[in-house]
Amino acid sequence: MSLLEVQNLIVEFPNRRGTLRALDDVSFSIAPGEILGVVGESGAGKSLTGASIIGLLEPPGRVAGGRIVLEGQRIDDLPHAQMRHIRGRRIGAIFQDPLTSLNPLYTVGQQLVETIHTHLPLDAAQARARAIELLQDTGIPAAEQRIDHYPHQFSGGMRQRVVIALALAAEPQLIVADEPTTALDVSIQAQIIQLLKSICKSRGAAVMLITHDMGVIAETCDRVAVMYAGRIAEIGPVHEVINHPAHPYTAGLMASIPDMDSERERLAQIDGAMPRLNAIPPGCAFNPRCPHAFERCRVERPDLMPAGATRAACWLHAADAQEAA
Ligand SMILES: Nc1ncnc2c1ncn2[C@@H]1O[C@H](COP(=O)(O)OP(=O)(O)O)[C@@H](O)[C@H]1O
Ligand code: SF4
Ligand SMILES: [Mg+2]
Repeated sequence: MSLLEVQNLIVEFPNRRGTLRALDDVSFSIAPGEILGVVGESGAGKSLTGASIIGLLEPPGRVAGGRIVLEGQRIDDLPHAQMRHIRGRRIGAIFQDPLTSLNPLYTVGQQLVETIHTHLPLDAAQARARAIELLQDTGIPAAEQRIDHYPHQFSGGMRQRVVIALALAAEPQLIVADEPTTALDVSIQAQIIQLLKSICKSRGAAVMLITHDMGVIAETCDRVAVMYAGRIAEIGPVHEVINHPAHPYTAGLMASIPDMDSERERLAQIDGAMPRLNAIPPGCAFNPRCPHAFERCRVERPDLMPAGATRAACWLHAADAQEAA
């Protein structure tokens, strides 16, 4: 059974001139312990998807359709207090800036112990011991002393390690990590991603890892969802999506990963830009940029359909889809 199912999710922002639809019919699942990457250009809808799952969509943004189901329980329509309990206990969150998750006025130990106390039946001494253990597991040196330090006494990378410890403090089943290394020094980004991967795998926690970096996806994830203009363009096992992309947009993203084997960086870009939400073209949203667009692409919108070993929202695979049906 899936741990998490996102079914036909629609997110809208009402404004004076009408309604902007930012996520349009997004569906995917995450299995227990799986690392799902979510990739796509800035503005594709990655963060809104994550925010919907953790119940932190900022008003006036709202879930206008579909459902989010965690282990059989619908969680997108829960009262705030109940959702706050699920967030923390069952779903942990990691954001780009570690200071979003840490309170500058409390030591990291106070924050860890409070989270542990809120969610787990441990006494004060046990909670502190667990907090120290978590800091050790996330690679904080001299954790017994560092636990009594304040967030500003840590470097950016160490701070993000503390945030990972905090996200895992109540043993959640799922971590939603939104660009967790984007704000960090390039030299430590890979270490933090490796830590996140190994610590979640060892605890059996699933991860939804949002990033715009296809290289990180390749090294970290089991499956990947490629988003474009508020929809999923392609989803499948990471090696299939990378080596045999079925959607022309995915193929374009792949071509922009620096080639390890050649001296020269290949930075073939896709011409043009992703459309604004109020100017999404009819048919396939990618059609103005697509080198393979044909008549049907300009009139009919493709949904995800079987495409080789992945699923892609692209009419080039309409024949595969028929065979699979
Ligand atoms: N508060 C908001 N009000 C109106 N539109 C928004 C708001 N937040 C996000 N959006 C729209 O949703 C789109 C997707 O946003 P987001 O999920 O943050 O993209 P990503 O994380 O992939 O860069 C944005 O391009 C923007 O048009
Ligand atoms: S549906 Fe058409 S325009 Fe869209 S990606 Fe496929 S071939 Fe290109
Ligand atoms: Mg984002």
